[in-house]
Amino acid sequence: MAPKHHSVYRCTDCGIEQPKWAGRCDACGAWNTLVEEAAGRPGARAAGRSRPDLTIGPPVRLSTVGGGGEPGRWKTGLAEFDFVLGGGIVPGSLVLVGGEPGIGKSTLLLQCAARLEQAGIRTLYAAGEESAEQVKLRADRLEEDAGPVHILPEVRLDGIIGHAAALGARVIIVDSIQTTYTDDLEGAPGNVGQVRECAGRLMRFSKETGVATLLVGHVTRTGGIAGPKTLEHIVDTVVYFEGESSSEFRVLRAVKNRFGSVDEVGIFEMTGAGLRPVANPSAAFLAGRDGATTGSAVTALMEGSRPVLVEIQALAARAGFGTPQRVATGLDHKRLAVLLAVLERRASLPFHDLDVFVNVTGGVRLIEPASDLAVVAALCSSLHDRSLPADTVFLGEVGLGGEIRPVAGADRRLAEAARLGFRNAFVPGRLRTAVPISTTPVSHVAELVRRLAA
Ligand code: TYD
Ligand code: MG
Repeated sequence: MAPKHHSVYRCTDCGIEQPKWAGRCDACGAWNTLVEEAAGRPGARAAGRSRPDLTIGPPVRLSTVGGGGEPGRWKTGLAEFDFVLGGGIVPGSLVLVGGEPGIGKSTLLLQCAARLEQAGIRTLYAAGEESAEQVKLRADRLEEDAGPVHILPEVRLDGIIGHAAALGARVIIVDSIQTTYTDDLEGAPGNVGQVRECAGRLMRFSKETGVATLLVGHVTRTGGIAGPKTLEHIVDTVVYFEGESSSEFRVLRAVKNRFGSVDEVGIFEMTGAGLRPVANPSAAFLAGRDGATTGSAVTALMEGSRPVLVEIQALAARAGFGTPQRVATGLDHKRLAVLLAVLERRASLPFHDLDVFVNVTGGVRLIEPASDLAVVAALCSSLHDRSLPADTVFLGEVGLGGEIRPVAGADRRLAEAARLGFRNAFVPGRLRTAVPISTTPVSHVAELVRRLAA
């Protein structure tokens, strides 16, 4: 007879355990914080009288523990994926691959599975969202031969773990964590309790057996659903797959990595035959550029440790009725508002009654202020309908006083620009560089406007 399970509900704010679910926690008053948990789970008990327990252990001296140093890794050969993970998949690790629906998570992981299998690393692909036939249709498009990959259309966690163990899989791909569930909880698949319980069990399974697990987690554009965010502290590594639906480029970004550095990115292109790593992102992002168009400026971003050149496009147009529109794609709209206000007040440029659109090509997001100067240059160029010199890059942070501030890693950015054939760079005043590129120092936005008009 199957043991009778029962659940408790734990408040994620204050940690108290309640026998029943409620919208509001009795103890701390927080709303929507009660999450289902299997009762009697180790560590789940409220603090009672402690009883000595020697069944696990004993403790060992760290010096007697094997391993250490750089962990052995399994390379998938998908260069950008291995790079973002810190050099490949670490045995026994749990990796969360998050991203919006349709961005290419299943494609990426099926390509990984095919490549791991080719390298002799047995891989189980648990498909909870699609039938085996649907996965086969995707596999047929890929450059990789996914034929030898074992596919399991299963959503029950025990089924996945059981089959992985029986198969001797060394890597499990769970697509997705939101469709996976355990009978031990009453909640529906995809709710916070199920997602956390399943990820927690996969974590224990991975640590005990050395099997690496790659989890797919869907996130909505607003980070809306209660899945992946709550997993970030459970798993070893979190990577997010991003991109604009209008662009074929995809950016894979590590936001947490116990076995590598964070903020590294890998850049892929979605082709008719799966995802292909982009070896020279700067060249790819600038490929569609036409140097004569007004409102276009190039800057160099640091994506993790690597510089990448991107094009920023701006369009200022006479507004119709009402409040002028401000539309920013790939850039924080608040940052755009700040830069427009600085241009208006510190350089007397009349943007207040114009619609303004700013776009970053390649589906990249500008998160560093170092790209401010390029945004400002693109805006001026569009306003005055004068194109910027095609062989020039712009680097610099713009302060509220209109001053241009220094940027970190200027040499690496300039070196990338020089490599791509750029001959001049607008840079913050007093910048010294050993990179063979001519520089135009500017220390204020008004000075930039004057120089661009000259
Ligand atoms: P998918 O991996 O199913 O996304 P996710 O798992 O993140 O929801 O990929 C979805 C899109 O990628 C889909 O619109 C089709 C497209 N695609 C290609 O363009 N080329 C390909 O070779 C493949 C397999 C998919
Ligand atoms: Mg999918």
